[in-house]
Amino acid sequence: MSAVPTIRQLLVRPRLCSIGLNSSSSPFLSYALSLHCCPSSLRVLSSSSSPTLTHEEADGSVGKGSSLIDVNPPRGTRDFPPDDMRLRSWLFQNFREVSRILSFEEVDFPVLESEALFIRKAGEEITQQLYNFEDKGGRRVVLRPEITPSLARLVIKQGKSVSLPLKWFTIGQCWRYERMTRGRRREHYQWNMDIFGVSKVRAEAELIQAVVLLFERLGIKSSDVGIRVSSRKVLQAVLQMYAIPENLFTQVCVIVDKLGKITREEMEKELVSLGVSIKAVNGIIEVLSLKSLSKLEEVLGSEGEAVSELKKLFSLAESYGYADWICFDASVVRGLAYYTGIVFEAFDRQGKLRAICGGGRYDRLLSTFGSDDIPACGFGFGDAVIVELLKEKALLPDLSHKVDDIVFPLDEVLDGTASSIASSLRKKGRSVDLVEDKRLKWVFKHAERIGASRLILVGNSEWERGAVRVKNLSTREEFEVKIDELD
Ligand code: HAM
Repeated sequence: MSAVPTIRQLLVRPRLCSIGLNSSSSPFLSYALSLHCCPSSLRVLSSSSSPTLTHEEADGSVGKGSSLIDVNPPRGTRDFPPDDMRLRSWLFQNFREVSRILSFEEVDFPVLESEALFIRKAGEEITQQLYNFEDKGGRRVVLRPEITPSLARLVIKQGKSVSLPLKWFTIGQCWRYERMTRGRRREHYQWNMDIFGVSKVRAEAELIQAVVLLFERLGIKSSDVGIRVSSRKVLQAVLQMYAIPENLFTQVCVIVDKLGKITREEMEKELVSLGVSIKAVNGIIEVLSLKSLSKLEEVLGSEGEAVSELKKLFSLAESYGYADWICFDASVVRGLAYYTGIVFEAFDRQGKLRAICGGGRYDRLLSTFGSDDIPACGFGFGDAVIVELLKEKALLPDLSHKVDDIVFPLDEVLDGTASSIASSLRKKGRSVDLVEDKRLKWVFKHAERIGASRLILVGNSEWERGAVRVKNLSTREEFEVKIDELD
């Protein structure tokens, strides 16, 4: 083992000396040497600082008269280079893990859906932000702005073949032509968890536990984030108090949800034009300002569903152990038309960001699609606001690229050997980066960059002994290992 040059020696010698052959003894080597001496014939070998071809070199377009295209993705959309992709995958793994812990099954849907699924007449913002168009077959389609209607479509399609209750989760991209603010984009990914077939608040309690478990896994505490809870039945009870017709309920909810985004006068105007009296508007606003369940009970009495369901949820929250995360806030109405009962939204307690997630009960969505209703509730949790929050709290994880081994043939004639070594290590489950046409110095830098734990050098003299040189990059130890003993 000692007659063999060490990696340190290899590093300071030209590559061909290190493998114990002279260039004239091998046609491959003289070819390799000629490449080394002639930079223009193999740029990747000679450019230790620039390992890959530039865009211009690769596509050959620039420099031949064409100008560079706009390399930014469409406004409001994102590319995911490796660092961002690692973060996204990590977040999605957490979404999946929480869903698994709560015994939900994963489903998926097309991003492109029929426009009809999203046409609602309540004046919601979401329906005004549709990415909709006609496809080549003349069908009206949309890039979905949310996933709930697709979920409902699949539940209807599966019909009696599904056994209730049904607990499904999904992670998918949604498109909304939004005004962009921090954490709000024109595309985002949403984690959805939905339960069909449970009419009791047990369903809401389970969903809120999922949200809390997710926050806890990410290192977020109840002092950072809270979950505001209310019920649309509160508003329903107020409308009954003022004898406002039932059929105005959805539109009233959508208008009332704008409070804070539009002025009170504008809201009043919209409600009055719907036929709601000023007296009722004042009554609605008064109730919406309530922040405690006992106050709500004073106003609505304890008999109605709004109060009893909310009380049940808060008592379940105590049993689950997440009561410190949730608070009653009658102003939470949510902007989507289909909610019918309890609604909730997670918010950052510093008030810097928009809603982190939101959901609620929607027991009558299926009948709007012409099917029989099934009680349902769920939430959507976006990928953008949570990342802003993690940044804000310095909770972003360290997710550098990690591989186990780098395999590097020191001579082109050993490419085959290097391939079979890499292949057998990969079959054992090790992640292996097979590198060639580089200088050893570059390989070391690369190993550091990708956090490799071993460097496996395939050189001629070791190969003749059926071995390779292995450097453990954390201990800096170096030894020769028989190829068939490598694991
Ligand atoms: P949503 O409140 O419209 O509800 O969206 C849910 C979450 O998606 C928001 O709280 C936010 O995290 C994220 N989100 C929405 N729009 C954007 C955007 N433009 N940019 C970044 N993130 C965004 C729904 O979509 C309901 N379908 C949720 C649901 C599921 N309800 C019952 N089941």
